[in-house]
Amino acid sequence: MRDYSPEGPGPQRLSDLPKELLRGAAVALRADFNVPLNEDGRVADGVRIERTLPTIRRLVEGGAKVLAMSHLGRPGGTPDPALSLKPVAGALRELLGSSVAFVQTPSGPEVGEAIRRAAPGSVLLLENTRFLAGEATDDEELAALWAAFVDHYVLDAFGTAHRAHASTHALPRAVRARSGVAMAGLLVEEELDALNGAARDPVRPLVAVLGGAKIAGKIELIGALTAQAECLFVGGAMANTFFRAIGLETGRSLVDPESVAVARELLEEAGPRLALPVDCVVAPSVDSSAGARVVERSELGPDDRVADIGPTSARVIADRVGSAGTIVWNGPMGVFETAAFRSGTIEVAHAAAAAAERGARVVVGGGDLARAVRMAGLSERFAKAPSGHISTGGGATLDWLAGRGLPAIAALSPRT
Ligand code: 3PG
Repeated sequence: MRDYSPEGPGPQRLSDLPKELLRGAAVALRADFNVPLNEDGRVADGVRIERTLPTIRRLVEGGAKVLAMSHLGRPGGTPDPALSLKPVAGALRELLGSSVAFVQTPSGPEVGEAIRRAAPGSVLLLENTRFLAGEATDDEELAALWAAFVDHYVLDAFGTAHRAHASTHALPRAVRARSGVAMAGLLVEEELDALNGAARDPVRPLVAVLGGAKIAGKIELIGALTAQAECLFVGGAMANTFFRAIGLETGRSLVDPESVAVARELLEEAGPRLALPVDCVVAPSVDSSAGARVVERSELGPDDRVADIGPTSARVIADRVGSAGTIVWNGPMGVFETAAFRSGTIEVAHAAAAAAERGARVVVGGGDLARAVRMAGLSERFAKAPSGHISTGGGATLDWLAGRGLPAIAALSPRT
């Protein structure tokens, strides 16, 4: 068994499980099917579903009854039809090419009944686990109810591994308490192997690139990353908070006012290892290219909105990525959903893909960024490069890289 620091000896792995333990067994599979939906309610981006297919296929081929479960969005503990997992069941059916029974409730006797009726090798998907109040509170009674329906537990929800929720934390322990096996699925194995390669024993220099719109919760992790990396670039909306910290005008850009003081401290601690964009693409609105222009960061005006890093900044980052031994990248550099504000992210993505192809260890994280890489037509290049990895995690990836424990991974360790 491999060492998965910081959690210690690490989880059991599905790939190590003797096949005979699967035949006819009911297996709870906690996946991360938190996928974007179109306005018509269909799955807009099924990559997270695709990445769990190898685990599902392994379980199905082993003759298990697969009880897949996931959250979708943040319904806050009550049912919300707009956040039903039913469309995911449809997408999963199409991808697997076989039937998937949708269980219209996340708990209750119907779940047990559906499992009893299921044939070995079949797949069931439960309704959104966050429709239940006990999910987010890591409720042990809820976990015990689920555990009573299954023999074993597989965690493939790497993207949710930083949440200690009933389906990610209490459930694996409840399954073990009933003498079942709780283990990491193939996607979680792949994620942990790639992230450990980048964070625990990186080939130097290690270059980190952080961006994206989710500022709160991320900014404090920058401290940990600057301690590990020779160089850390901050782009995307996060950079605006740093701009404010160094006294620049940020206009109508997204800023996290509560994080300005900590941003100032981080800049002082990191010194020249932490680099901010020197230029930006700004526009009156991030939804349209109308009025977009490139400005030096010192020229930002009161009506400007930062929508992307500028061309000089993109070139500087791409150059450093080009000579790095390890690259850790989380979050897009701009509002890539709008074509006019995609260039920064695309230029860095090309540099990262080329780095992976020449053998640098590259970990690209965050659902938004994975989507941007795909829009740039680069997913194949990352997938084919031996050392390129596109992580399905956002916050989970950052927590792991910053040396924080992931409660859902810790819960798989036989010692917990
Ligand atoms: C994600 O998309 O980052 C994961 O699914 C976790 O979602 P959450 O931030 O709502 O817990």
